[in-house]
Amino acid sequence: MGEHVLDVYLDEDHAARELRADVRAGLTADPRWTPPKWFYDARGSELFEEITRLPEYYPTRTESAILAERAGAVARLTEAKTLIELGSGSSEKTRLLLDALVGHGTLGAFVPLDVSASALRAAVTALTGAYPGLSVRGVVGDMTEHLRHLPDGDNRLIAFLGGTIGNLIPAERTVFLSSLRSVLHEGEWLLLGADLVKDPAVLVPAYDDAAGVTAAFNRNVLYVINRELGADFDPLAFQHVARWNPDHEWIEMRLRSIRDQRVGIPALDLDLAFAAGEELRTEISAKFRRDGLTGELDAAGFAVRQWWTDPRGWFSVTLAQAR
Ligand code: AVJ
Repeated sequence: MGEHVLDVYLDEDHAARELRADVRAGLTADPRWTPPKWFYDARGSELFEEITRLPEYYPTRTESAILAERAGAVARLTEAKTLIELGSGSSEKTRLLLDALVGHGTLGAFVPLDVSASALRAAVTALTGAYPGLSVRGVVGDMTEHLRHLPDGDNRLIAFLGGTIGNLIPAERTVFLSSLRSVLHEGEWLLLGADLVKDPAVLVPAYDDAAGVTAAFNRNVLYVINRELGADFDPLAFQHVARWNPDHEWIEMRLRSIRDQRVGIPALDLDLAFAAGEELRTEISAKFRRDGLTGELDAAGFAVRQWWTDPRGWFSVTLAQAR
């Protein structure tokens, strides 16, 4: 039997302090913003899982199809002994990689890292049952902050899937990719899933679905702020907006105030006025091009070994090696 453990670096105090700092900074800025990581309480993680099954939301199933086809190649090329997955959520796609790496006979440990303790606990329990003999150790943490807590080793493969790299603005990506590089030894691996630039007629509905699940996911950040900071947001007084920004080539999710309103946040001693039509930016989801992404990886000290996409060229999975 493999051991199953959860190491918590994003403990409740730390998370609470960070949420307060983020909300104060973002909601007193002009224009206002909130960081996407606060979507993912238990309810938000469930809503995201629901999003991944929506007909309009192509990234998850497209990436899964690429992984299904290429997992064997990943195992042969990397011969990884430890798989580290960043932002793993429910780790469903991970099974494709685990099957291939376990089948190849090299893998001994799986280390998923996620901000959501609830999603991680479920994943660790399920995977421990499914892969006896594999050591599974979950790390509750923020991937921009807690990389140093990942286990050292040799021939590790870090998987960062789902297109979550798109949540970072370019300057943040530069910092993040170099910090990833700095936790790896030369020759170790990165498997990166990234959504690609495509027709906005495909992109926008993926972030504004007919069933309104993404709208509920977007508003969930207001419920989180209400619960954690005693705020009195009326989430339904904010309209979900998803917009393609062609200059930055990213999707922006926003919450637009449908009327003039005031919101109190007692824990921060804030009383905020929202004008009708005022928008709060809750997420960016950048879309990539091959040259751009290869260049960013190269600049961070990674050599791209494989570039895999689906037949429509909608999503990419890149295998890169620390050099
Ligand atoms: C989990 C960040 C990859 O940007 O597509 C889905 C989150 N937001 N629908 C994405 C998300 C709205 C998702 N990532």
